[in-house]
Amino acid sequence: MTADVSSNQSPDAQVREGMPLFNDQVLKLGLFGTNCSGGLTMTEAETGYEVSWEHTRAIAKQADRMGFEALVPIARWKGFGGATDFNGTNFDTYTWAAGLAAETENITLVSTSHLPTTHPIVAAKASTTIDHISGGRFALNLVMGWFTPEMEMFGAGQRGHDDRYRFGEEWIQIVRRLWSDDEPFDFDGEYLVVNQAISKPHPVQKPRPILINAGNSPAGLDFSARNVDINFAVVHSIDQAHEYTRRVRDLARNRYSRDLSVMMSAFVICRETEQEARNVRQAILDAGDYEGARNLAETLGIQSASFDTQVKAGLDPFVLSFGAYTIVGNPEQVAEELIALSNAGMDGVIIGFLDYVKELEFFDRRVMPLLREAGVRK
Ligand SMILES: Cc1cc2nc3c(=O)[nH]c(=O)nc-3n(C[C@H](O)[C@H](O)[C@H](O)COP(=O)(O)O)c2cc1C
Repeated sequence: MTADVSSNQSPDAQVREGMPLFNDQVLKLGLFGTNCSGGLTMTEAETGYEVSWEHTRAIAKQADRMGFEALVPIARWKGFGGATDFNGTNFDTYTWAAGLAAETENITLVSTSHLPTTHPIVAAKASTTIDHISGGRFALNLVMGWFTPEMEMFGAGQRGHDDRYRFGEEWIQIVRRLWSDDEPFDFDGEYLVVNQAISKPHPVQKPRPILINAGNSPAGLDFSARNVDINFAVVHSIDQAHEYTRRVRDLARNRYSRDLSVMMSAFVICRETEQEARNVRQAILDAGDYEGARNLAETLGIQSASFDTQVKAGLDPFVLSFGAYTIVGNPEQVAEELIALSNAGMDGVIIGFLDYVKELEFFDRRVMPLLREAGVRK
């Protein structure tokens, strides 16, 4: 997949050459969270979607046929309790991507890795293997971990926020060398030590696979700007998307002379009419797993001592979409909002649905033509 590029291009340009996530579609599209029960929504509302390999494969193949650029899993080890134990049933993201690499043709398979839970030598080797299975269609999303009970499962505590990124910096330095060095090397860091480390073969993508990170804090943005190709944003309005994309690109350019692509996640409820879509939104909330959402909110440090109406309303964004940007409407309205996000500088949107199997088909039939008409898709 990697084209021969002239030596006067930056290594970053070489990484991006020929990759679906850097193709000429104005707005890249991906699916998010199909490896975890509930996907992005914490509800008992009716859905045909389940975490089975049959569904996983069907969804992936359909997204591939539709020309989507990426399948992005959630790295999760434990659910959030409550009525649904949201995300509690989940597939490992490396082996998931490996399986889907063999089932798909063009789409990028992303593995999301909690860096503290995976040794860099293991991660480098697994990533390389998936890159070979897929013929160079692999990307690695680097997350530092924030859900403390999950880290405690491993018998380890959670590091302080910025410390996680310092650990991540050592981790990715080791992985990058394993992907490119021909000779064994030693690394003696504050957090990680490797002795005479080597990994062969090297990935198909040269000099390395695409890297992604979802840091939005100052330490997270600095990590993204320095190390990765794509930053995943959390934004809640078009204005915020505009401000964020500009700020993050400027930061990468000014601080590290690098180009950073910015994409975001969104939960989409699209039905033939606006009213139908609103009804689905309401049904999700009516059957919402507010106990799970409260557990999530508490993990994120939001106080919710009493479970009164006000607190419950505050949890709606978590119930609905795990806090992701939510788009509700008929096909025209959904397309309009995606186009507005593109115009605000978003390079791509990775999408969650209540029922991935059914709704992806509807999205293909009713929304994709509108995106093509508008010129954000070919
Ligand atoms: C699109 C997207 C994907 C994410 N995927 C995961 C994930 O798979 N697992 C996880 O634990 N956190 C995931 N996160 C959460 C980020 O890791 C979290 O937002 C990050 O810790 C925030 O970093 P910050 O404190 O630097 O802003 C994701 C966030 C976004 C926006």
